[in-house]
Amino acid sequence: MTTAASAPRVFSGIQPTSDSFHLGNYLGALRQWVALQEDSDAFYCVVDQHAITVTHDPKVLHQRSRTSAAQLLALGVDPERSNLFIQSQVPEHAMLAWILGCETGFGEASRMTQFKDKSAKQEHTTVGLFTYPVLMAADILLYQTQRVPVGADQRQHLELTRDLAARFNNNYGQTFTVPEPYILKETETIKDLSDPAKKMSKSSESPRGCLYLLDEPNQMRKKIKSAVTDSEAEVRYDPEGKPGVTNLLVIYSALSGTPVDKLESEYQGKGYGDFKGDLAEVVAETLGPIARATREYLDDKAELDRILVEGAEKARAVASRTLAKAYKKVGFYPPVAN
Ligand code: TYM
Repeated sequence: MTTAASAPRVFSGIQPTSDSFHLGNYLGALRQWVALQEDSDAFYCVVDQHAITVTHDPKVLHQRSRTSAAQLLALGVDPERSNLFIQSQVPEHAMLAWILGCETGFGEASRMTQFKDKSAKQEHTTVGLFTYPVLMAADILLYQTQRVPVGADQRQHLELTRDLAARFNNNYGQTFTVPEPYILKETETIKDLSDPAKKMSKSSESPRGCLYLLDEPNQMRKKIKSAVTDSEAEVRYDPEGKPGVTNLLVIYSALSGTPVDKLESEYQGKGYGDFKGDLAEVVAETLGPIARATREYLDDKAELDRILVEGAEKARAVASRTLAKAYKKVGFYPPVAN
């Protein structure tokens, strides 16, 4: 059951581009997804259409979309409280993206830093990668979304979404809610464990830099224990001077609920060995059970499909209303039934 219509509308998405989500996804966004479903009308989406903006293998993508949905359920997205669905099952996303693309300036889209970063890594850059943020705007605006829980790297895309909503409303009359980003300051960017100057990401250069939710608990412990710190021995929050230790403190505090200053005094005079050892246990204990729960959801194919189809049906009911409005506003004919 979703919450009452007066509850704030929340939307967010995640790409099924790896076999497992990582700790940055979890602390930067997914934990907020779970928390917000309690008092919001939440729509959460596995954005497989975004995933084909770079080279992909169809079989792998299909499997990763399922594993992604299973992981979201395993980490606490509750289909009784939120609507969980796969983007390609709701065709309105691509349909609205076309309209919004025609409202977006070429220069405006060219300024997106994620496009610049991603296209620099591709041998062959597609138009889809360029218009990626427009599809993301369509995802959000279709649901008359008020809040979008994401990490800091999505801030610029959210700004574009807000600009497009305001521009469309201004040109054609009130159509879309202008959404607010929901970004938690403390965990807005979790850093790479081997290179704390970079954000944690699956494209980390070091195999130990990125901690995956589906890693074996022992692998998680090893990654925490080998995380880069510095040549001192003081556990102190100092993002500029001690980025590695600060990142570990942020992770420790977020997972345990203990404030950073309390952790600092607990580990005063103890050095990094104890600190990392204890954090390794907290990480393995908190994230360890997600892998088993994910396997259980994957083993029951019929139930997982049922949840996703139900989520997509509820999503379409909302999305098609917004799309119909936008179609009318721009002078289109309504889609015919097939
Ligand atoms: P994606 O799939 O790259 O990441 C999913 C979420 O994880 C957050 N995140 C992080 N947060 C903190 N520290 C990190 N190191 C870190 N790495 C990733 C991301 O900010 C994101 O919230 N474009 C989006 C997907 C998307 C979307 C949407 C999101 C498509 N449509 C509509 C919100 C609303 C993306 O690529 O996220």
